[in-house]
Amino acid sequence: MSLIGKSVLLLIGGGVAAYKSLELIRVIRKRGGSVRCILTKAGAEFVTPLSVSSLSGEKVFTDLFSLTDEAEMGHIELSRSADLVVVAPATADLLAKMAQGLANDLASTTLLATDKRVLVAPAMNVRMWQHAATQRNIETLKGDGVLFVGPDEGEMACGEFGPGRMAEPSVIADAIEAALSQRMSLLGSGSLIGRHVLVTSGPTHEAIDPVRYIANRSSGKQGHAIAAAAARAGARVTLVSGPVAIPDPQGVTTAHVETASEMLRAVEAALPADIAVFCAAVADWRVETQSGDKLKKTEGGPPALALTPNPDILATIAHRKGERPSLVVGFAAETSNVIDYARSKLDKKACDLIVANDVGGDSGVMGGDMNTVHIVSKDAVDSWPKLSKADVAERLVALFATKFAPKVRL
Ligand code: PMT
Repeated sequence: MSLIGKSVLLLIGGGVAAYKSLELIRVIRKRGGSVRCILTKAGAEFVTPLSVSSLSGEKVFTDLFSLTDEAEMGHIELSRSADLVVVAPATADLLAKMAQGLANDLASTTLLATDKRVLVAPAMNVRMWQHAATQRNIETLKGDGVLFVGPDEGEMACGEFGPGRMAEPSVIADAIEAALSQRMSLLGSGSLIGRHVLVTSGPTHEAIDPVRYIANRSSGKQGHAIAAAAARAGARVTLVSGPVAIPDPQGVTTAHVETASEMLRAVEAALPADIAVFCAAVADWRVETQSGDKLKKTEGGPPALALTPNPDILATIAHRKGERPSLVVGFAAETSNVIDYARSKLDKKACDLIVANDVGGDSGVMGGDMNTVHIVSKDAVDSWPKLSKADVAERLVALFATKFAPKVRL
């Protein structure tokens, strides 16, 4: 792990976790990076400018209206001098200011003036974190391309338990490295910064009665990996996931749904999007009439289940007038004639690309970690070797990025 030659502007907000920021300064410097710090007025109640300055080896900035500071380095220049701006701890107040675009002190003014990516490490009481206002602000900030690390769950200084503890300094330093290396690689290869990517993932569960449902073996691994890779490429990502046992990807807004109808509603609610990737294994059918009570075994034998088709989410969005994403990507899970069936799906479902995978008997694709895919477009088929689902996701996202010029300058 290395931050050699990288410079970080660290904004220290006012929270008990500010003491961890001192350790963060130490870790960044140990990894070869340099740190300039802005200490908010509230932050200075928890750590002293002297300790911040001793650890960073730099002057600490505290005051927007300091004539000396402005003469040496104006706040605009300060906001642009680093490779990355990090806010740790990011208090509820700082997040609210950032979401609103307020600029009434040095920290908030710098955040509004910067042209660099911003990584925040939130820290606050669990109720403040869960409050609808804070969650709204977080959504706004994610939409603006702000990166998040943490918070962790655990016992808090106030004695309560839950999410709200600031991520550990080494984890924040890892996130800084990831953000910076992403920026470097994106500079070379085009990116999805400023784009909204919508991904469906996992199975759907279609209830038969209160305890039974129709489902399939999709684990969500492939769809979640695509969402995570798109977020790493700088996109704002909305993931609509059926019931899965894997965690939500970092830096992605995830909507959890059960049924195909709920998935369609969540997808429509997330529009407009620049790119939509339909990786979910949606149940094609649901029972016509769901029983309110658990079906009982009867003398008459097993019940007859009348099925009715579910909405086709991919076809609905691909045929949509007005709000059709520029790039619509479907998947085709086939057990034979993979390419032929994929071609006919490309046509019938009106998508731009189909990612076809053979999910037959011993392929282990559904639920497993590896996948062998064929990228089917109107004029070509590109067959990729067997890859991990993470690698398939990276390559797909790189392919999507070639179709979009970066929307904002890095
Ligand atoms: O989740 P994993 O365990 O990682 O496995 C990954 C996967 C095998 C599920 C994934 O790679 C995959 O192939 N997903 C698509 C599975 C599927 O349902 O294929 P399909 O051929 O039945 O559907 C074709 C396309 O239409 C898919 O993009 C599907 O999301 C979409 N569809 C299908 C039916 C429906 N009602 N609505 C849809 O949007």
